[in-house]
Amino acid sequence: MYVFLGRASNRKSLRRAAPEPERGKIVLATRPRRGGSGLVSTGLPGHVQSVKPSCPAGSGSGTMGPMSAATPPTERRVSARVGAISESATLAVDAKAKALKAAGRPVIGFGAGEPDFPTPDYIVEAAIEACKNPKYHRYTPAGGLPELKSAIAAKTLRDSGYEVDPSQILVTNGGKQAIYEAFAAILDPGDEVIVPAPYWTTYPESIRLAGGVPVEVVADETTGYRVSVEQLEAARTERTKVVLFVSPSNPTGAVYSEAETEAIGRWAVEHGLWVLTDEIYEHLVYGDASSVSLPALLPELRDKCVVVNGVAKTYAMTGWRVGWIIGPKDVVKAATNLQSHATSNVSNVAQVAALAAVSGGLEAVAAMREAFDRRRRTIVRMLNEIDGVVCPEPEGAFYAYPSVKALIGKEIRGKRPQNSVELAALILEEAEVAVVPGEAFGTPGYLRLSYALGDEDLVEGVSRIQKLLAEARD
Ligand SMILES: Cc1ncc(COP(=O)(O)O)c(C=O)c1O
Repeated sequence: MYVFLGRASNRKSLRRAAPEPERGKIVLATRPRRGGSGLVSTGLPGHVQSVKPSCPAGSGSGTMGPMSAATPPTERRVSARVGAISESATLAVDAKAKALKAAGRPVIGFGAGEPDFPTPDYIVEAAIEACKNPKYHRYTPAGGLPELKSAIAAKTLRDSGYEVDPSQILVTNGGKQAIYEAFAAILDPGDEVIVPAPYWTTYPESIRLAGGVPVEVVADETTGYRVSVEQLEAARTERTKVVLFVSPSNPTGAVYSEAETEAIGRWAVEHGLWVLTDEIYEHLVYGDASSVSLPALLPELRDKCVVVNGVAKTYAMTGWRVGWIIGPKDVVKAATNLQSHATSNVSNVAQVAALAAVSGGLEAVAAMREAFDRRRRTIVRMLNEIDGVVCPEPEGAFYAYPSVKALIGKEIRGKRPQNSVELAALILEEAEVAVVPGEAFGTPGYLRLSYALGDEDLVEGVSRIQKLLAEARD
């Protein structure tokens, strides 16, 4: 069991599947397999629940515990379900860095998961025109502008070789809403989702909100943070419904090869599992790596495959909030119904901007990729120069994910950080550099550094970290 160390007031546990035996790192040796038992019952016949959301002060425990009978509903404040959600650690680090900067401290931020480039002009121009068109001042179909859905279908065929009908697409308020709605549409209480770790911090929260149980499968730097089919199989039970597949990955930048992708897809098909595949970093791959779309590779998977994508990373459009789901028609219809009550259509102006983005070429992302690739090589080299830091070369996205396990407990400027949360805090305080601790991604002992920042800042920031960590003593 893994205890989140980031906020003592909001602790939670996440079921961690037993890793491959040869790794010798059994975290939960009693994990039941296919019908086993031994964990806390959800109250559902045949189900187990390993995730016990903590109840924040003042909230009751909903229907989950003894308090629900004793505590009148009017005495409970924040619901147990929503009260158990942690603040996004990545956004929190970014906000802290920005606040320190605003207070005059020369902080360099490696926390943000967004390109530092502006949105290309032709996209902004399309949005300006949309603002002037009264047609876009009104509600439009909840599932997305028909012309945008058609353009997304065309883009998917162009970029992934996957042919889809616009009725298989739902336009969402960013990739985050796509993930939330996808899990909400396919999970019932107690359904397990296998989540390769290190994972992006939003996935387990979305799964829990949908009543599902995230089951983590950990990969470390020795395998380039890629999980094997054997590890996934060790985590599968009768309750497993979905496997999450993210390549390129946030936070590690890992990219699965075509053979690895195919093996995981075939394993999912063999066991009738659903796959949620997040392709948001599809165009940010370096060197010989290439991103492969699972449903394009394995047509037999399509009936149980949901693709998440969006314009945020490819077109430097994080603030515009446009993403989408591609999936089987029944799932997309259900998610569209949900969205029709939750948020209705995504802002029309943002949708028109996204239309210009996906209908246009890929020149802008090619230029960004070149800059990211240069920074990637610099950051990996500089991080590996630090004693006690091990950073595999990321092949995609814009994150480096070094292990700092060897530095935990060492003395640095009079302090002995006991975990990567404390080390990240020390780096922020002493070097004025913001990084995200691995606890946010399910793996203490690591740091995530986004290299989506200017070259000079990058070198200055990592130099400061080098200087500070060179002082580490036993
Ligand atoms: C792997 C991954 N998926 C999805 C998203 C969501 O992107 P957005 O909601 O900004 O479209 C992010 C953002 O950081 C991400 O890293």
